Amino acid sequence: MQNENIKVFTSAFEQEVYEGLTAYPKYLSSKYFYDEVGDKLFQDIMAMPEYYLTDCEFNILETHKAEISRLFAQNGNPFSLFELGAGDGKKTKILLQYLVDNNIPFDYRPIDISQNALDQLEVSIKQEIPQVTINTLQGTYFETLRDIGKSNGRRKVILFLGSNMGNLLHPQAVEFLRNMRDAIEEDDLIFMGLDQKKNPQTILDAYNDETGITEAFNKNVLTRINKELGGNFDVDNFLHWEVYDPETGTAKSFLVAKKSQTVHIESLALEVRLKRWETIHTEISQKYDDEVVEWLAQQADLKIVTSFSDDQESYKNYVLKK
Ligand code: AVI
Repeated sequence: MQNENIKVFTSAFEQEVYEGLTAYPKYLSSKYFYDEVGDKLFQDIMAMPEYYLTDCEFNILETHKAEISRLFAQNGNPFSLFELGAGDGKKTKILLQYLVDNNIPFDYRPIDISQNALDQLEVSIKQEIPQVTINTLQGTYFETLRDIGKSNGRRKVILFLGSNMGNLLHPQAVEFLRNMRDAIEEDDLIFMGLDQKKNPQTILDAYNDETGITEAFNKNVLTRINKELGGNFDVDNFLHWEVYDPETGTAKSFLVAKKSQTVHIESLALEVRLKRWETIHTEISQKYDDEVVEWLAQQADLKIVTSFSDDQESYKNYVLKK
């Protein structure tokens, strides 16, 4: 692992964990929450009453599925429906079923970082809506956008639901939107769900459930380091801590050390020292308003075609194009 002062990493996970835990203040990326255990915990989060995002988006899609499908279908030529961060596809199935019922020609190409999530999704689609042609693609958003861009022929609609972009800081979100723009043509569409600014207490409650599911989800990054990199984190030595800044609309998750401790990570040959009350920042969940979304779209040279929302304007789905 160690050669004089040069570290040789065998995976992005190793490198990012090393960089994050040797930085000050410490951080780890929320993309590493997701393995088989993390996928299940996230499904449990989406089913929690406090995590309003899923219900809001589900209701928007249910209410507007006819109009959304019309937008997707345009002149009736077959299109490819890509989905970034597809997860369990629960909400997408509303649209898939409507498209199938109305004989609108399309194929479905879900993309996720988790192969496990994709395998489960493929099985469930084949059982529930067997008429759907499905081709899964495993990878990070940035990797797979390159493949989307290369796939020519059919018109493309890219779904990006669940406020997944909220896990990116604004500069990364702009870069991501620019990559999306590069991957699409004039006639293609991006359909994106973004959680909106609202009563700060509602947001804090969504990320701080009393049952401890979100806490376990946050701590899963430490469990993965233990399992995959030979770490010896004691997860009970950490608090899950959530803050929300209503001015910027940023919710942030931390793991806070309850006592001073030294953690060894075998495959990184690394001793991590944490002082009592030292933090590891793990996730941001950005909340938006129309002005910010317009600014982001403009930075990426994209246009907002229309948007759909619930009565409270608690959550919105935006349609974007080149
Ligand atoms: C996937 N992502 C949009 C979720 C969110 O709301 O930031 C992940 C999550 N973290 C805690 N609860 C849910």
